Amino acid sequence: KLPKAVKIVEVGPRDGLQNEKAVVATDTKIELIARLADAGLKAIEATSFVSPKWVPQMADAAFVMARIERRPGVAYPVLTPNLKGFETALAAGANEVAVFGAASESFSQKNINCSIAESLARFEPVMDAAKAAGVRVRGYVSCVLGCPYEGEIRPEAVALVAGTLFEMGCYEVSLGDTIGTGTPLNAQRMLEAVMRRVPVARLAGHYHDTYGMAIANIYASLELGLAVFDASVAGLGGCPYAKGASGNVATEDVVWLLNGLGIESGVNLDRLVDTGAWISGLLGREPASRVSRALRAG
Ligand code: HMG
Ligand code: MG
Repeated sequence: KLPKAVKIVEVGPRDGLQNEKAVVATDTKIELIARLADAGLKAIEATSFVSPKWVPQMADAAFVMARIERRPGVAYPVLTPNLKGFETALAAGANEVAVFGAASESFSQKNINCSIAESLARFEPVMDAAKAAGVRVRGYVSCVLGCPYEGEIRPEAVALVAGTLFEMGCYEVSLGDTIGTGTPLNAQRMLEAVMRRVPVARLAGHYHDTYGMAIANIYASLELGLAVFDASVAGLGGCPYAKGASGNVATEDVVWLLNGLGIESGVNLDRLVDTGAWISGLLGREPASRVSRALRAG
């Protein structure tokens, strides 16, 4: 019943680093992306083309895109909140982008300074321009299992935004538990509502691990047939507009889970653990991944 293979979308260079206070050198970001590709990841979210006033860490987006070594068969998507971001990303050589909305009005305002309806209207020209340029667009929905400002979010509110993004032409919709408050049963309830609007093969789980529930939520999602998950090496990250939110589920932990279930991911765990330890060392901390800690101690 579980999928035979899972695709991991590595979001460490973007979601993982966007909230770092100290500036991370562009060269370090480029090396991180190369090492993640060496570990076998086939989708690596590289950076975001957002306002540098809002997210200073991503101000070097065009330099990152200009200098990453592009491997055949590896996608390097980038975030683009509006047409300006899309055009800059395209000029920098991006061939896959992501628009990002939310299921919560307050979070939408704090994160992208507009309402949900306004955000969807803003994505229309991005979708059109992307189509004309032959660029794939992924869609994100934040706050699918809770909002830092509004608390509980109804599954129907998530389904509405996810369904709209899919109908607008997003090839995949990634469902973000931005603050990591979700648990397996409410994750399944949310997914069931979304799956009435979007085929499960077009959905991804994007679970932050703030409360340590991300792996449980991934397992619950696998049971419903989800086969794409976003993860961040060493569990790097946090969202600048969700106070107290910690990183995404660690990629190492996801690979350990999948290996144990006999589900193919194509990722080399040893190389991934080395990469997570390397970047964490540069940032002056231990990897948040329990699997990484255990394997390196052993
Ligand atoms: P705004 O201030 O409403 O935008 O921000 P504006 O159109 O009025 O423009 C204001 C200024 O920003 C202008 O510059 C624009 O040129 C510039 P000024 O004239 O003042 O010098 N600007 C840009 N610069 C660079 N790139 C752009 C761009 N657009 C405008 N694309 C805006 C609206 C969306 C731009 C802003 O709110 C923003 O950049 N927000 C990004 C927030 C963000 O990156 N959040 C983190 C990513 S989302 C996330 O982490 C969640 C996710 O992981 C899923 C989950 O976990 O839930 C995806
Ligand atoms: Mg996120």
